[in-house]
Amino acid sequence: MTILGIETSCDETSAAVLDFPGNNQFGTILSQETATSLSLHAATGGIIPERAAREQLKYINPVINGALSHAFPEQTSQDEKGIPPIDAIAVTYGPGLIGSLLVGVETAKTLSMLWNKPLIPVNHLYGHIYANWIRTTDEQIDEIVFPALALVVSGGHTDLVLMKDHTTMTVIGGTRDDAAGEAFDKIGRLLGLSYPAGYLISQHAEKGDAKKIPLPRPMLGSRDYDFSFSGLKTAVLNLLRKNDWDFTNDSFTNEHTKLLYDLCASVQDSIVTVLVRKTIAAAKYYSVTTVLLGGGVAANQQLTVTLQKNLPEDITLFVPPPSLCTDNGAMIAAAGYYKGEKTHWSKVTADPELYF
Ligand code: KG4
Ligand code: ZN
Repeated sequence: MTILGIETSCDETSAAVLDFPGNNQFGTILSQETATSLSLHAATGGIIPERAAREQLKYINPVINGALSHAFPEQTSQDEKGIPPIDAIAVTYGPGLIGSLLVGVETAKTLSMLWNKPLIPVNHLYGHIYANWIRTTDEQIDEIVFPALALVVSGGHTDLVLMKDHTTMTVIGGTRDDAAGEAFDKIGRLLGLSYPAGYLISQHAEKGDAKKIPLPRPMLGSRDYDFSFSGLKTAVLNLLRKNDWDFTNDSFTNEHTKLLYDLCASVQDSIVTVLVRKTIAAAKYYSVTTVLLGGGVAANQQLTVTLQKNLPEDITLFVPPPSLCTDNGAMIAAAGYYKGEKTHWSKVTADPELYF
């Protein structure tokens, strides 16, 4: 089965063509094109929804066209009406920014109507989990064995989801305030780093010492699988004010740079420690066979290395490559294949508040 996946829930515009050989085997990426408006938002410390959607209107057709022409380079692989040889179109219909979602959803509906192909509306959060069902190397990969515990950590979500199989999913914990990625981004802003700050903080952290400036590890000892990261942001803010540290101007001394690296290391250490501790506790309690990571923060090396090091040996960890952790069309095609329902285009509408 060949699926065109379309993702436009936030600032990325991405389309991918995936092939699924059947028998629940992993999907293979035939092509993927992604455009992002991130550089437009870097200076503002966050996404301006209207600007993101306007950019996506410019990108959407070239991105879909690019993905299709890479997947099917032979002109003859399209029939005389220019209809590509795909079996379905999968599109993110929520959660996300309404203007951004509409760009993808309305484009996908139009293509579904014109090409007479089934449309599969996909929950973006499932997309992050199903990025794990994509084969990205020639190496033999193990089949994913249920029960599995998925940790979805992105800019908008921090959720622990228990999966008994492809249809039985239960949210066992989530964030009570800021998501993990949101914490990285908001703290990054306090530290004068451009948006999104997660990757930059992880780079700086490599040169710092987390022990130099200890920060709280919110809800580490709570007897549940919930998270809270807004207090960490406040702790950093209080620290900056108390010590009169300002990282937002350009007059950086060597001492400032060292402090910044140590702070980044401590912020990352705090977020990673809580994520790892709760994930392992839940994995043991629910006796899962597999842990799956997904979402932009899953691209964090310290998170994956610490989790791998501390997980019991009989639990297998799956982490998508960084390019499939952040938003992409391939993961939407994969979620469409495993979890989606073919739906008539007239019945699909964007839902910004969608959850599991
Ligand atoms: O999944 P994603 O691309 O978009 C959402 O669905 O939100 O995640 C974006 C988030 C941002 O908050 C970004 O700072 C964070 O993922 N991120 C990282 C890293 N790379 C991206 N956070 C920590 N370490 C990274 N290496
Ligand atoms: Zn996402």
